[in-house]
Amino acid sequence: MQKTTVRAGSNIAFIKYWGVADAAINMPLNSSVSMTLADAHTTTTVEWQTVATRGATGPAEDEVNVNGAPLHGDAARRIVNHLDRIRDLAGVSLRARVSSRNNFPIASGIASSASGFSALTVAACAALDVELTPTRLSSLARLASGSASRSLFGGFVQWDKGTNDESSVARPLFPVEHWKLIDIVAVVSSEPKSVSSEGGHRLAATSPLCEGRVRNAEQALPPVVEAIGRRDLPSLGELIEQDALAMHAVMMTSTPRLIYWLPGSLNIMLAVQRWRDEDGLPAYFTIDAGPNVHVICEPASVDEVSHRLGELPAVEKLITSGPGPGPVELTEHLF
Ligand code: DP6
Repeated sequence: MQKTTVRAGSNIAFIKYWGVADAAINMPLNSSVSMTLADAHTTTTVEWQTVATRGATGPAEDEVNVNGAPLHGDAARRIVNHLDRIRDLAGVSLRARVSSRNNFPIASGIASSASGFSALTVAACAALDVELTPTRLSSLARLASGSASRSLFGGFVQWDKGTNDESSVARPLFPVEHWKLIDIVAVVSSEPKSVSSEGGHRLAATSPLCEGRVRNAEQALPPVVEAIGRRDLPSLGELIEQDALAMHAVMMTSTPRLIYWLPGSLNIMLAVQRWRDEDGLPAYFTIDAGPNVHVICEPASVDEVSHRLGELPAVEKLITSGPGPGPVELTEHLF
């Protein structure tokens, strides 16, 4: 048993996960596909310690520190619940000291839970000498955050919806070197979102559009994988824009409804479409459960797309990342 530090990248979904078939295990309504990000990552150090008892010193509770501050409330509970799963698996009653750092701002439209729970799962298991395959780790990470299941692998990844805890897991499709696709996040607001994705997944099925969107996502998935395989941005772009818009249509028509967009979000989406139609600039948008817009392009267009995005009044800042590896163990610890 030893202190272990792991770095894991977040990911951007091209076919989205929205809605759960079984909320207890985050089993999704549809399979999804994503790209793991190189430059938006979480680094997490975990150390397990003997629990305090009469006659023995040690922490009574898990200690969780994120970006330099102790974590309390619901966010801390979500992490402690995940540590409980790992304790159960290993059959131990130790307490964990966890420290975690993101290299990207929280609430920037990049899922910190995907990278965070992926890094936590790998570090906490390794620190206990619990040896699991990446597939098993993907299943375990999914229980904490659906999208974290995909960050267990680098490059381009598919999360098969599966039929139970064992089969609802991610798998690698293409390695990092396959295609240097770039995700430029145009941040229009850094306010934390009012409804968590966790809450939103449970509402998805209340939308009359949910069934249609799930059917469409399942149909669009094989062509998305083929387009990635051919490095065909125009085909991929059309499909990812459609799925992102379909997911937001489901969000907007659930009960209660969820409107994540701000006026700036729509301005960016329309601008990206206009640049493409009028100037032939090959860039496409996708948007997660928030107002910030991810613009996908190839390295040759990054400067032009970044420049144009930077000129839009709605854009606060840009965060840029290419495809990255799966979780990596580091020798330098956070404490
Ligand atoms: C819209 O339940 O994985 O990003 O609350 O961050 O854990 P967290 O999100 P999660 O849902 C992600 C939903 C999504 C689409 C996607 O990444 O597939």
